[in-house]
Amino acid sequence: MTKPTDFAYFSEEHSAEVVNARIDAEVADPRLASVAASLTRHLHAFIKEVEPSHEEWLAGIRFLTETGHMSSEWRQEFILLSDILGVSMLVDAINSRRPSGATENTILGPFYVKNPPTLPNGSTICQDGKGEPCLVHGVVRDTDGKPIAGALVDVWQTNDDGFYDVQQKNVQPEMNMRGAFRTDAAGCYSFRTAKPRYYPIPADGPVGQLLGRLGRHPNRAAHIHAIISADGYDTVITHIFEPGCRFLREDAVFGVKESLVGTFVRHDGPELAATNGFDGAASYLEVEVDFVLATASGRSAMVHQG
Ligand code: BEZ
Ligand code: FE
Repeated sequence: MTKPTDFAYFSEEHSAEVVNARIDAEVADPRLASVAASLTRHLHAFIKEVEPSHEEWLAGIRFLTETGHMSSEWRQEFILLSDILGVSMLVDAINSRRPSGATENTILGPFYVKNPPTLPNGSTICQDGKGEPCLVHGVVRDTDGKPIAGALVDVWQTNDDGFYDVQQKNVQPEMNMRGAFRTDAAGCYSFRTAKPRYYPIPADGPVGQLLGRLGRHPNRAAHIHAIISADGYDTVITHIFEPGCRFLREDAVFGVKESLVGTFVRHDGPELAATNGFDGAASYLEVEVDFVLATASGRSAMVHQG
């Protein structure tokens, strides 16, 4: 005789327990078993809270199906969904806990290209010459304040039209707004670029439609991406945010952290601009940012593509 409490038969009350009772602990990998059981518990709790109609449940299935269909080698709509729900930032926060004083991580985004050209310090990454001239420089240090020589500062951003080079193949020069810079013996790096601007995340798919239906905009606060790496230290994946951007407090993917907002100081005068490599410019912006790396924890940074 089956007792009502042994979870063999389905009931609304014990729905999650009924499903989880089928996991065979002798066969299943323990981590997978625990993740699957937790997923089932939370999913069933969500359904019990929302009580969807059959039509609503089907609309959800259709949304996920379209999200899959939109994904390709070049477009990862599921990661975009995770981004706009704040899940990507939460996973990153859990995996990037660092000692205080170390530079904070933020979202990688889908437009990173591995192995950009390594350029001499002071070079420009702005091959199309568009936008307001900007000099970015600083020191890479450890958490004791000691400069780190030979660290790699890998940077990328959109051009002044708000597009990454990979979104505009044959329009922008290849590797426009990308470059890697090695710190010198004093831990210093520098590069020239254009002031970053806000731009929309890809919004022509189901995730963009969802944002629209929720009354949310798709814009990312203006930023320069940076990955800083050095032997013996945890790699940092981060941004430098432009403080005057109107979307700073409402970034579409929740990537802004207060410590990552830079200071952009305008220097007027063509001579000063020319001295700093901006011939013909009336002024330029100076952005001084030091990056602080924590000693290697053994956790690896997630530098994926797509
Ligand atoms: C980006 O900053 O490049 C980005 C991040 C998340 C989604 C889309 C773009
Ligand atoms: Fe970006």
